[in-house]
Amino acid sequence: MARTIPFPPAGPIIAPSILSADFVRLADDCGAVLDAGADWLHVDVRDGHYVPNITIGIPVVEALRGCTQAVLDVHLMITEPIRFVEDFAAAGADIVTVHVEAATHLHRTVQAIKATGARAGVSLNPATPLQSLDYILEDVDMVLLMTVNPGFGGQSFIPSALRKIAALRATLAERGLDHVVIEVDGGVKINNIGQIHAAGARAFVAGSAIFGAEDYKQAIDAMRQQL
Ligand code: DX5
Ligand code: ZN
Repeated sequence: MARTIPFPPAGPIIAPSILSADFVRLADDCGAVLDAGADWLHVDVRDGHYVPNITIGIPVVEALRGCTQAVLDVHLMITEPIRFVEDFAAAGADIVTVHVEAATHLHRTVQAIKATGARAGVSLNPATPLQSLDYILEDVDMVLLMTVNPGFGGQSFIPSALRKIAALRATLAERGLDHVVIEVDGGVKINNIGQIHAAGARAFVAGSAIFGAEDYKQAIDAMRQQL
């Protein structure tokens, strides 16, 4: 069973994507970014099938769980994620996010995540309409809006995502679901995080903007000053 972390978080969340970390020194690099003020560790899992890239999986989540108490925010960019939600939760994932486009039975998949004690997130690719969330919003803790096409770090933020974030924020307010966190992932930088926050996002995944920085604390502080 996963631990059940308090949700929603009290304030805005900076969640560095560990894919941009130094994998030769992963524990040290994750420790450094947490010491520098990061809130969560965002773990990008890709299967080379749902997205055109293969990265990391359950053993890395287990290893990270063994060396930090930080929230592990696991983003499953994999086909039919229901097959692995229990394994990721058992490995130590605190949040398990699955793609609407990749889950044939999304409601059942979200229920499977919640049954483990982990927090449940659903994610949309940039062109997937918000309407696909209409019958699952009340069941989830978080919606992860992709602001790049998933598969690789270091891409540019897709501008139409700002409209999408604002529209989702409005829908959540209309339906009395303000507790659902909007997380964004992809191309988040110091020069756009303020706009993204203003549109309604409250959790910010950033890979290259943080792990690519000379000084992690300076990068995170600069982002936080925009919120
Ligand atoms: C997409 C990945 C990236 C990553 C963030 O598959 O999920 O969006 O987390 O990378 P940056 O911040 O470098 O775009
Ligand atoms: Zn991600």
